[in-house]
Amino acid sequence: MEERQVCRNIIRGEVRMSLAIKNGQIFINNGLIKKNILVENSKIKKITNNNIKAEKTIDASGKIVLPGIIDSHVHMREPGQEYKEDFFSGSCAAAAGGVTTFLDMPNNKPPILTALDLEKKRQAAKKSIVNYGFYFGTDGKNINEFKKISNVATLKVYMDKTTGNLIINDESVLNKIFMRFKRIAVHAEEENVERAIKLAIKNKNQLHLCHISSREEINLIRNFKNNKECKIFVEVTPHHLFLTKEDEKNSFFMMKPGLKTKKDQDALWKAIKDGTMDRIATDHAPHTITEKESENPPYGVPGIETMLPLLLDAVNNKKLSLNDVVRLTIKNPAEMFGIKNKGRIETGFDADLVIVDMKKTKTVSNKNLFTKCRWSPWHGKELRGWPITTIVNGNVVFNNNKIENINAKEVMFNNKR
Ligand code: NCD
Ligand code: ZN
Ligand code: ZN
Ligand code: ZN
Repeated sequence: MEERQVCRNIIRGEVRMSLAIKNGQIFINNGLIKKNILVENSKIKKITNNNIKAEKTIDASGKIVLPGIIDSHVHMREPGQEYKEDFFSGSCAAAAGGVTTFLDMPNNKPPILTALDLEKKRQAAKKSIVNYGFYFGTDGKNINEFKKISNVATLKVYMDKTTGNLIINDESVLNKIFMRFKRIAVHAEEENVERAIKLAIKNKNQLHLCHISSREEINLIRNFKNNKECKIFVEVTPHHLFLTKEDEKNSFFMMKPGLKTKKDQDALWKAIKDGTMDRIATDHAPHTITEKESENPPYGVPGIETMLPLLLDAVNNKKLSLNDVVRLTIKNPAEMFGIKNKGRIETGFDADLVIVDMKKTKTVSNKNLFTKCRWSPWHGKELRGWPITTIVNGNVVFNNNKIENINAKEVMFNNKR
């Protein structure tokens, strides 16, 4: 990692009243159609063939306009590990990656286990320039806190060892947790995937299986996915889709779950094609270069600003359709977590949008990254298809490699618990 000079460009932006996005190919109803979009008071006001006027105009000729990406699995490290990332730096990385909403995990320092912890995180997140929501954590001893909290994505249960010390193994404790919290996301690997599914079937949960990475796991999930007792949603990361064990050159390529074989990777792509896979989320897990180069490197890789370019590159290479990308990174996350007013370009919906240039070719470079950790497993990789403008609540927060610092909002979840 040689290039360390800073070429990040951040200015304080101003909140716009109205915005016109003209002549773009707009993604509506599973297809592209040329329309103009009028944005007013942070909402999509009009989608029209007619000419529109606003205080600011963006010419999107030759570009595609998508609903903003919803990254349903990130670690922004705040509170407690702001030296790795914080809500501002992490959200700048999000904006640069076309992500307009992220859902943040609870394995912080301290972990988010009480209503008060959650409240403190809510305050810290106010500096985020993209929208955000939170998972709640559990150590098995905080079950009484469950009823005190509201508006979280799900409870997060760690059934395998990973960053943070929230692992729970005891069957009766797990059962009690599954009984008391309806919507659960798990870090479960191998046999623990089956264990989580059985607990969810028994307790009729909505179960989110994070970062599924192996063929065995996929085959197992396929057997259970259509059960009538519980809903199962399956997530995969870009690193498991685009890297294998062979790429594991050093500790910078180590994460939980670890990279797998080509056979496993093929199974993940097949699961995308046959609909077993529901979502792609980054598991953005920044650690500093010093930590990664240490004797005891922590697990995890950053990824929030490279997911969309990787996926658009895959669209250009005919490995995915644009429809797949929208379904897996926008539509499904919005629907499966019940995120209000997001995930579609539709009148009345929040003006969270990303304008992408499918022909733009750029090489991922550590020196251009907005993440505080300043490295990427994809450093040096040339990709075709990049986000060029990101709009959050009607405000341009990223345009032509420039960040505008405008605060965003916490999302609202339709579902209760
Ligand atoms: C994550 C982290 O660093 O917080 N690490 C990882 O390797 N994925 C934790 C996690 O998602 O398991
Ligand atoms: Zn380098
Ligand atoms: Zn995990
Ligand atoms: Zn994670």
